[in-house]
Amino acid sequence: MKVVIKNSLIDLLAFGKHIKLRKKIFNAASAHRLEQGYINTLSRTLHPARQDLIIESLLEESPDIKTFRLVPVTPGNRIASFRAGQYLVLSFEEEGMILNRPFSISSSPGESREGNYYDISIKRKDKVNDGFFSDAVFRNWIPGSSLSASGPQGAFYYEPLRDASQLVCIAGGSGITPFRSILTEELENHKELKATLFYGMIHLEDYAFAKHFETLAEKNPGRLTLVPVVQESPSSWQGYSGFIDAPLIRKELGAMTDGSHSFFLCGPPGLHQHMEKVLSDFSLRKKYFRRENYGEGTKHSLTQTDYQLNVFIRGLEVRISASSKETLLTSMERHGLEPPAFCRSGECGWCRSQLVSGEIAVDPGLTGLRMADRKFGWIHPCVSYPLSPITLRIPDNPHKYSS
Ligand code: FES
Repeated sequence: MKVVIKNSLIDLLAFGKHIKLRKKIFNAASAHRLEQGYINTLSRTLHPARQDLIIESLLEESPDIKTFRLVPVTPGNRIASFRAGQYLVLSFEEEGMILNRPFSISSSPGESREGNYYDISIKRKDKVNDGFFSDAVFRNWIPGSSLSASGPQGAFYYEPLRDASQLVCIAGGSGITPFRSILTEELENHKELKATLFYGMIHLEDYAFAKHFETLAEKNPGRLTLVPVVQESPSSWQGYSGFIDAPLIRKELGAMTDGSHSFFLCGPPGLHQHMEKVLSDFSLRKKYFRRENYGEGTKHSLTQTDYQLNVFIRGLEVRISASSKETLLTSMERHGLEPPAFCRSGECGWCRSQLVSGEIAVDPGLTGLRMADRKFGWIHPCVSYPLSPITLRIPDNPHKYSS
């Protein structure tokens, strides 16, 4: 076998010294925790675990999508900064339960910084939550309602050091919300960037932020192409009808070379399943494909069976029941346990727990687990449905609960 070393061996040798040096520093260090200083305080201010917000106003984006403008409860407080494409986890009480759900921020960081607000756009009867959460939102959230929110979360953002300078954004339903933020911000900040937005919707009136995207395309001639695709289009519609598929993507993008385009995908589980098949045609390298799941995956059981769920949480053992039609996370929340969670789609790892015994079903595309996790029985309860009685251990991590 022929091995070609492209760079100097000096780097390799320096690394060897590094290990010894690191050991020496570790051994000399104190076992006591470092004192909390200015940097810790600054970091907590810029990235708070929780934020108290109030709904300032509402806007109808489409018959089914409303935008809620959230501002700090305390006048003079600043919202935590974020990257375009990130989300907040919003919490509120409904029917005696604390509900937490992630929602992408639809305003851009520039707009939010200037106005000191977050815009969150929510779809009624979203597949993310079977309508339970969004029904409650549409019923109860009015100007003046207060909410508790997490700090901004998520890794679904454009990173020029990693991503190609031609973005292919594919959205379905309320999956359009992060793209409003990403395209508004990044077309302004990166003048070399070009983007094509494929937006799949059922009816033409579902086209959320249509005016905003059209204005953005006019302001950036030749840099933003809008491709709305309507499933049930009216006879007067002159655009594309049906579904986003490979011939349509090829027609709009023309020739692609390896690494010339980065694909960003956001929408409900059905869109992900469909697009995975469509994009398998393009032999994309993993680094050029980023996705944000909205949802907990497919329900694995059409009939409901209730199983016993034993949970070790915060030093207690709690016995509750878990329905085969709900994720383990939802069952725990339904019983008031408040386990840690952010994304609810198997991506952030915040809910990672140990399956002591029992059998679960998970959509293969949603596990988000490392190989070692799988080997030692770690799971993400946010995307796991019980198929038998279950015993689950939630790791004790005060940092997670303090949020
Ligand atoms: S809450 Fe993010 S992986 Fe479960």
